[in-house]
Amino acid sequence: MKNSKIVGVGHYLPERIVTNQDLEKMMDTSDEWIRERTGIRERHWITEGDTIASMSHQAALKALERAGMEAGDIEFIVFATMMSDQIFPGGGCFLQQKLGLPGVPAMDVRNACSGFLYALATADKFIKTGTYKNALVVGAEIQSTSLDLTTRGRDIAVLFADGAGAAVLTATDDPTDGILTTHIHADGNYTDKLRVEQPVVYHNPRLHPGIFEGDAIYPKMEGRYVFKHAVTKFPEVINEALEATGYTTDDIDLLIPHQANLRITEAVGQRVGLPPEKVFSNIQTTGNTTAASIPIAMSEAIEQGRLKKGDLLCLAAFGAGFTWASALVRF
Ligand code: UT7
Repeated sequence: MKNSKIVGVGHYLPERIVTNQDLEKMMDTSDEWIRERTGIRERHWITEGDTIASMSHQAALKALERAGMEAGDIEFIVFATMMSDQIFPGGGCFLQQKLGLPGVPAMDVRNACSGFLYALATADKFIKTGTYKNALVVGAEIQSTSLDLTTRGRDIAVLFADGAGAAVLTATDDPTDGILTTHIHADGNYTDKLRVEQPVVYHNPRLHPGIFEGDAIYPKMEGRYVFKHAVTKFPEVINEALEATGYTTDDIDLLIPHQANLRITEAVGQRVGLPPEKVFSNIQTTGNTTAASIPIAMSEAIEQGRLKKGDLLCLAAFGAGFTWASALVRF
């Protein structure tokens, strides 16, 4: 059995920066509330020309460059996003076309905030079994166009943002190197706690005036409920990865959790017993970019010298579904 190793990570954030003060002009909210409750100061939203495909393309090119590889080396693409640029085909196919890789399989994963780790686990298994040597794992998301930018939608509108991140994986024969373990979970009993209700695909036609009555076309979250589950499931799935490998919290050099809320990240760090310097946060400047948040954070952690070769890296996520996941990586 092979292991798969992350050899290059890149990200792309749209140029447009939306500050909390900008949001104050759109809805009844305040910089103080947003910072205190979420940690977020600003986030990136797309402008004309940014698409899921274009952002993921930029992130993938950066990841390939850092891996010292070319697009032609990639044999498998796993693409995590909640929505492709169009309802179909999937985002992976649009990226594959941009990379010029006809014939290379492109798989889409729709597991919201846990999507990147579901995608990573999938690519890892294909490499472990010897099917492919090099894979590209992507998380890309446009959330800003889905938001209710009135006071009615403020609890969610201040959180979500846009961006893309990508990681290049390659096979290694060293069983102590690369991705050591991955764990993925879901519980569909909680689908109603964080979701977009409309349009539904079983109504004919899917788009009809009725869907615009009320606020069913916007994302909805029972914030406190989701928060409580997040701070329980994150530590649970991190400990699962530690138990599977025989490592302890003390061995972890850096924890990069999905960036949902700074208070969640801090609570998770405390619950697993990690000092703040071993827990990475960039939500202050990125907001919650759902499937893109972990690869963007990895890429920024590398740029800041916080994540180095040889580090024991723990990745963890929790989100809609509910879904939750972790990975332990010798970086
Ligand atoms: O990534 C996927 C997983 N997502 C998460 O894990 C997110 C989990 N949840 C959260 O991060 C938090 O629950 C939120 C940030 C969404 C909300 O923070 P909270 O501390 O749980 O606030 P709350 O929902 O309990 O609301 C407290 C108050 C309410 O007012 P009243 O009823 O106390 O008068 C809200 O109406 O804050 C009000 N509020 C706001 N005020 C100003 C809600 N959103 C805003 C806002 N600006 N943007």
